[in-house]
Amino acid sequence: MNKMKMPLALLSFLLLAVASTIPAAAGILADAPSAASTAYGPDDFNMHAVATALGADRALGWRNDSSACRDGWTGITCGEGGKVIAIRARNAGLNGTLPTEVTLLFALQVLDLRDNGLTGALPDAVFLELTNLHIDNNLFTSVPADFLSTARSLQGFSISNNTQLQPWELLHDAHRLTKLRHFIANNAGVSGTLSGFLGNRSVFPELSILSLAHNLLTGHVPATFYSRTLHRLDLSSNDLSGPIDFIANLLGLEELLLDHNSFTGPMPDLSGLWKLQVVDVAHNRLTGVVPASLTDLGLLNSVSLTGNLFQGPLPELASSVHSDITNAAFNGSFCRTEHGPCDPLVDAFIAIAGGFQYPEALAASWKGNHPCAGWLGVNCDDGGVITEVNLCRLGLNGTLHPAFGTLKTIQALLLAGNNISGAVPQSIAELPLLRFQDVSDNSLEGSMPRFHSGVSIWAQDGSEHCLKEWRAKTTVKLITKNFQLCGIHPNFDKLETSFIGRSEYS
Ligand SMILES: *[C@@H]1O[C@H](CO)[C@@H](O)[C@H](O)[C@H]1NC(C)=O
Ligand SMILES: *[C@@H]1O[C@H](CO)[C@@H](O)[C@H](O)[C@H]1NC(C)=O
Ligand SMILES: *[C@@H]1O[C@H](CO)[C@@H](O)[C@H](O)[C@H]1NC(C)=O
Ligand SMILES: *[C@@H]1O[C@H](CO)[C@@H](O)[C@H](O)[C@H]1NC(C)=O
Ligand SMILES: *[C@@H]1O[C@H](CO)[C@@H](O)[C@H](O)[C@H]1NC(C)=O
Ligand SMILES: *[C@@H]1O[C@H](CO)[C@@H](O)[C@H](O)[C@H]1NC(C)=O
Ligand SMILES: *[C@@H]1O[C@H](CO)[C@@H](O)[C@H](O)[C@H]1NC(C)=O
Repeated sequence: MNKMKMPLALLSFLLLAVASTIPAAAGILADAPSAASTAYGPDDFNMHAVATALGADRALGWRNDSSACRDGWTGITCGEGGKVIAIRARNAGLNGTLPTEVTLLFALQVLDLRDNGLTGALPDAVFLELTNLHIDNNLFTSVPADFLSTARSLQGFSISNNTQLQPWELLHDAHRLTKLRHFIANNAGVSGTLSGFLGNRSVFPELSILSLAHNLLTGHVPATFYSRTLHRLDLSSNDLSGPIDFIANLLGLEELLLDHNSFTGPMPDLSGLWKLQVVDVAHNRLTGVVPASLTDLGLLNSVSLTGNLFQGPLPELASSVHSDITNAAFNGSFCRTEHGPCDPLVDAFIAIAGGFQYPEALAASWKGNHPCAGWLGVNCDDGGVITEVNLCRLGLNGTLHPAFGTLKTIQALLLAGNNISGAVPQSIAELPLLRFQDVSDNSLEGSMPRFHSGVSIWAQDGSEHCLKEWRAKTTVKLITKNFQLCGIHPNFDKLETSFIGRSEYS
């Protein structure tokens, strides 16, 4: 059956292409009436081509011996001079391929072909006057690279549920679409990144709905994405990653759907987003404490957080807010499954993780309310007392939080081989039992605080102030239970060899 149809479709397309050349030219030489155009309107030739290509001659009675405007075709609206300004043929049983002639309807403002069976490539578009283009629920197979590049009047675009589309990327010169309000392309094979489309801070001054759910988008959402007008953002079910700080720039947001991606890092401060009603960030890899700036939002009515690596106490949401936080808690996020504060030591570790920008490795391991329950880098003695924190070579960024100073029982603090910046806080120097601190191979700066005597400190040689003096003064003379020397600077080679293999503090 299909074997028969293909050649027929091809043949009729070829016939159409040949037939179109002459009168199309006549159409462009505006007001140069041919024999036919005295009887027909200026767009009739192209409308006949559209009608035939889509089967609308049969389905809607758009007959090629009649005129779209003069004879009032179903679904057609005409403007001045008998020009077609709207085609509305939703759910009309149309099929076939949208012909190039549709782009020669130079007055066309509305093209609504939703819920049909249209297939093939979309035309390389002109669409200068088009304000609304709706082609959801069809079977289109490809979107040309420049499809919307000249649609400078476009306000509403929707192409959702075109499941046959080959992957296509969003425009990089999107700043030409200055009138855009609604861009809705869910389940439509959109691939690539958002960096070109949303990277320009001045783009889309009137954007109100951006919906790109169930696509193939990857990469980060550009931090420069900014809007005061956007009220609905749906990027759910893609493979987007990186931080979600950009949402703090979307000051008009009412609905935020970022679920089922690979976003990481903490939730930003949302206190400026007072219109926010719906927040769904479920099933990402978000970390950190859910900020009060979210739970305090006055208009909030639905929150989904499940399937992340959130930390800290259960968020306190108003009882009117629909949420899944109980589910989220059952999966090990949050320190406790009921409301209330975390253990103070857990709070300290969460603050420490915050200093490191809530890395995923720590959030994934530091679950529950007991740091001695096998937390990454936390070593305890048999009595459940924390004796050592070893976070060497975890790629940690950020700074050392003063909350290290609340881990009063630690004897060794090993942080070598990371990318930690800033200064060593005084609170660490005041740890009463500390014997050993290794902060070598980081990007620390400032001067080392004054430690009590008997603490051995390793730090990088290269930085301005860190440790130069300390290296000379200190006696490196201790080894912990599960001690692994880490981040040893070449200058410490001699020390390294003399301590490897020991297994006790001495
Ligand atoms: C006009 O319509 C008739 C009947 O549907 C069809 O046979 C004919 O091929 C059409 N002509 C053009 C030029 O499309
Ligand atoms: C187009 O739709 C009509 C009516 O729905 C149907 O008879 C025809 O076979 C379809 N053509 C193709 C190519 O699918
Ligand atoms: C697309 O399909 C989904 C799932 O079938 C449906 O919920 C949604 O309403 C459809 N979108 C449009 C614009 O028809
Ligand atoms: C950003 O948008 C402005 C106009 O809105 C435009 O002039 C500029 O070229 C755009 N920059 C990029 C990199 O697209
Ligand atoms: C808990 O985690 C498992 C495995 O990651 C996941 O399949 C499940 O949906 C999660 N449950 C909830 C309620 O989030
Ligand atoms: C540290 O920052 C780099 C660069 O931004 C990033 O690739 C890396 O994942 C960060 N490390 C952690 C542990 O988050
Ligand atoms: C180290 O941190 C700086 C910011 O302080 C960041 O720009 C850089 O990408 C990080 N490097 C790595 C390897 O994580």
